[in-house]
Amino acid sequence: MKTDVIYCKSSESMSEIEDESVDLIVTSPPYNIGIKYGNKTEKGSVIESKSIKYQDNLPEDEYRRLLKTVFSECKRVLKKDGSIWINIKNRYINECIVPPFWIQDYFQDMYLKNLIIWNFDWGGSTNRRFSPRYEFVFWYTKAKDKYNFDLDAVKIPALNYRPDRYKSQLKNPSDVWKIPMISGNFLERTGHPAQFPEKLIDRIIKAGAKPGSIILDPFMGSGTTAVVAKKNGCNFIGYEIEQTYVDMANKRLRGMR
Ligand SMILES: C[S@@+](CC[C@H](N)C(=O)[O-])C[C@H]1O[C@@H](n2cnc3c(N)ncnc32)[C@H](O)[C@@H]1O
Repeated sequence: MKTDVIYCKSSESMSEIEDESVDLIVTSPPYNIGIKYGNKTEKGSVIESKSIKYQDNLPEDEYRRLLKTVFSECKRVLKKDGSIWINIKNRYINECIVPPFWIQDYFQDMYLKNLIIWNFDWGGSTNRRFSPRYEFVFWYTKAKDKYNFDLDAVKIPALNYRPDRYKSQLKNPSDVWKIPMISGNFLERTGHPAQFPEKLIDRIIKAGAKPGSIILDPFMGSGTTAVVAKKNGCNFIGYEIEQTYVDMANKRLRGMR
């Protein structure tokens, strides 16, 4: 099986990947809120339009069918001790918040180990409600007990450390992660409209994989999962429907060498 490759095709079929061969899956599916993928945008307006394969405004049932198909492929290729981490956020549809808890329907046969709140300080603002400042990361394992999780690899300094009370100066980072969202002046910034911060993926990969692991992202975008996988000595496989983003990801990967 080939690794360190991004296939430019839909991840609805991942026939290139053998059953139970992937250690960890990290992804952020399209949100279906009309994001202008594949276009060059500035301040939310399209300034250059490319031939777009994926329209981020599918009818809701079609959108959910797409995710169901991709997630069932994810389950097929995942090893027994592996896990899937999915970053997804609330949507605002018809003046109402729509939380993504429907995703649970697709993972009844897996174990939800954490529902992480990824909190950040800036983003879109509004004066009609409180500004949204978090997204979710759903963490599912295939096995109930025997799954890869290296807490020591991701512990953080304890601010209130007391040698008389605690064995270590390091603590569990908890299920609320404060990690900055990518802003325009970040060095890692690409032109992708929904790019993960490397720091978010780094914690997931350090906790859920080890050097040599195979990491899959079925919605690879600008290649953040691939870049962080390589930085941690792992291998990756990705799928991305837009050629522009496959090129962007490969350019990022070449820049690491
Ligand atoms: C939320 S973005 C992922 C961004 C990525 N995490 C990053 O750091 O750049 C979702 C991506 O999925 C891609 N996409 C949409 N439908 C797809 C499909 N059926 N198969 C593969 N990729 C798809 C979109 O083009 C978009 O780049």
